[in-house]
Amino acid sequence: MIDTATVYRNEAMIGNSLKKIFEQNLVPGLTRQDIFITSKLAPKDQGYDACYKAVLESIKNLQVDYIDLYLIHWPGTARLKLPDPKNATNRMESWHALEELYHARKLRAIGVSNYTLPHLTQLVERPRRNHHSFDNNHAHDASSSDPSSSPGQTQTQSYPHGARTMAIPHVHQFEMHPRLFQRDLVDYCQAHRIQVQAYSSLGEGRLIVRSKLIGEKRASLDIMADLIQKYFSAPMQGIVEGADTTIKDEEDMGLDAFPVVAADEDPAEYAHKAARILLRWGLQHGAVVIPKSSQPARVRSNIDLFSFEIEPSDMSALDAYSIEGERTRYCWDSTEVC
Ligand SMILES: NC(=O)c1ccc[n+]([C@@H]2O[C@H](COP(=O)([O-])OP(=O)(O)OC[C@H]3O[C@@H](n4cnc5c(N)ncnc54)[C@H](OP(=O)(O)O)[C@@H]3O)[C@@H](O)[C@H]2O)c1
Repeated sequence: MIDTATVYRNEAMIGNSLKKIFEQNLVPGLTRQDIFITSKLAPKDQGYDACYKAVLESIKNLQVDYIDLYLIHWPGTARLKLPDPKNATNRMESWHALEELYHARKLRAIGVSNYTLPHLTQLVERPRRNHHSFDNNHAHDASSSDPSSSPGQTQTQSYPHGARTMAIPHVHQFEMHPRLFQRDLVDYCQAHRIQVQAYSSLGEGRLIVRSKLIGEKRASLDIMADLIQKYFSAPMQGIVEGADTTIKDEEDMGLDAFPVVAADEDPAEYAHKAARILLRWGLQHGAVVIPKSSQPARVRSNIDLFSFEIEPSDMSALDAYSIEGERTRYCWDSTEVC
């Protein structure tokens, strides 16, 4: 799985790497269908025409025929003030461009990212002509060019390429971990069959360092050591071998001011196990998790999530870290975007 975005400025690099892998058969047997590529619309490209062009540019840069999932990265538009109502108009225009590219099979699934509940309800509950149903099964199956085959999406819009509306997004990608558990947003997505995709599940790495504070932000969860003891009593074998055991930016984060780990505790092993707990917590809430790591050993460990299950009481204890007013957001906050 590749999660990229126009603003990450690495689509062309990914495209070149994929081309090399396929042309030189560097991973024998690997085909395009084995790779799931997500990309995202930059805030500067909001609006129907700009979005349409941006998607085609992403497809060109990635050197593929289609993108598996394309998201509106952010509800706002670059250079507009946050309360400007044009933000709302622009993102709806972008959505219509995505719908059209979805029907044209250039995008296999479409969605949004960093939308708050009001942004999402505005999209999902917008008035639609000929709209009969909120059944997302219809929405997700609407790849046929015959409108009669998708009763939830029979409207034809007056957009240049004749886009038809689709009921609701396939995916919503937003920050989600025990210090930022937006239950209302998760519930709404699940009620409308929108797949939640959790990003920064590890708090950008900060939640898996055993420290109370990192800079101004609250980090480790004080029950984590107990959970690690309960679910991973045996030492992990092999998995950390070859990994760089340095936790990112420890000194930059001012961790020397805090007891990071007990003298007999291996910080790399603690981080691996804490990461697995946090990722499993996301999965048990029905989210898809997309942890990032530049280290193969960490990637392997982060995938190993199906050999244990967090008990309901421990799930509740983790959920309880997300108390209103005490939440910690490590990434963007779109609350003020109109
Ligand atoms: N839609 C959006 O606006 C948005 C925003 C943010 C992120 N995202 C997506 O979500 C992905 C993940 O989020 P994220 O990068 O913010 O944060 P994350 O996955 O919570 O944390 C990544 C950090 O944790 C470290 N790490 C990962 N596994 C580890 C392990 N087992 N042991 C020790 N350290 C570990 C990584 O370091 P190393 O790399 O050094 O291993 C990296 O510094 C991103 O790559 C991006 O694709 C989307």
